[in-house]
Amino acid sequence: MSNTTLATSEQKTQAQVENSLAQRLSIRNELKKLSNDLLRNEIISGLNQDHKSISSKFFYNKRGSLLFEWITKLPEYYPTRTEKAVIKRYAPQLFGNQRSIDLVELGSGDCSKISLVLNAIPDHNRTSITYRPVDFSESAVDSSTKLLNSRFPDLKIEGLVADFTQQLESLPYVQPRLICFFGSTIGNFTPALAQKLLSQIANTMNSGDQLILGVDMVKDKNTIEAAYNDSQRITEAFNKNILHAVNGYLQSDISPIDFKHIAFFNKTESRIEMHLEAKNELWLESPYLANPINIKAGECIHTENSYKYTEQVINKMASQSQLFVNDILYDDNKWFALVHLMK
Ligand code: AVJ
Repeated sequence: MSNTTLATSEQKTQAQVENSLAQRLSIRNELKKLSNDLLRNEIISGLNQDHKSISSKFFYNKRGSLLFEWITKLPEYYPTRTEKAVIKRYAPQLFGNQRSIDLVELGSGDCSKISLVLNAIPDHNRTSITYRPVDFSESAVDSSTKLLNSRFPDLKIEGLVADFTQQLESLPYVQPRLICFFGSTIGNFTPALAQKLLSQIANTMNSGDQLILGVDMVKDKNTIEAAYNDSQRITEAFNKNILHAVNGYLQSDISPIDFKHIAFFNKTESRIEMHLEAKNELWLESPYLANPINIKAGECIHTENSYKYTEQVINKMASQSQLFVNDILYDDNKWFALVHLMK
């Protein structure tokens, strides 16, 4: 055999290896099926209400996703850091023996939490797992799965860009499911909607399937409020960024400068509320509106609720969704909980 032939056959082998690695990563965008009209109408109807609101999912455009990643690293923003510590501590116990499962992650974001999970799974188990990240942000799914693919080349990844509040059925069920719903994202939903979402998730599970739910717990008001009023004002930029998303969908031109960032803990409702308060009277004009929307001076647009949980609420929600609470795992301060649920 000549040297040239040998070189060619070696190259081929290398190419085949690369090809098979690349084939372990794929991304599907289901969000494109939800027409922009639908999302646009959702924004318009929220702004036409007496108490104006914009769904917090609209925070997460490209810029918003980056701002949120920045928030998670702020000294005042305890949730992400605390949750990661809990995941790290209990990952061997929770995930070490999992194999031949579909590891679904709802709101996967930058995939940094699932990295902690994957690190706790031995190589020989990991090759039998398919990771299915689901996120509203196409850019987040795109960049995070590429990074994950390079970090864990033997892991099969099937990314899904979708709205998990209404497109869960587009997730294929191939192997038993272990669903991770980290980040207290469920806290963005009112109790009724959180209950509905949890039931929807439970409905995609078969007996024996598992769900790990991350929730932020009730704690002293100052700690909570500081996390949403950071001194570098990144949360303020994040809150105001939702207006760029609105302008994108409505081809409007409202300016963040005309609004003030407000975030406070509503103790009765057990939630952080974020609002944008108009500094002066404004008119929102859009080719999609017959009449401009009037925003009065001092009027607030409600942009986010972030519910803080108690064990009692967790147990009630679980039982109403026909899920068993296997375990509730905490950090030392009991600031953040990982709830291990099973169908
Ligand atoms: C992603 C919903 C968990 O509520 O703490 C961070 C979003 N908003 N700072 C939260 C958020 C303002 C975050 N969640």
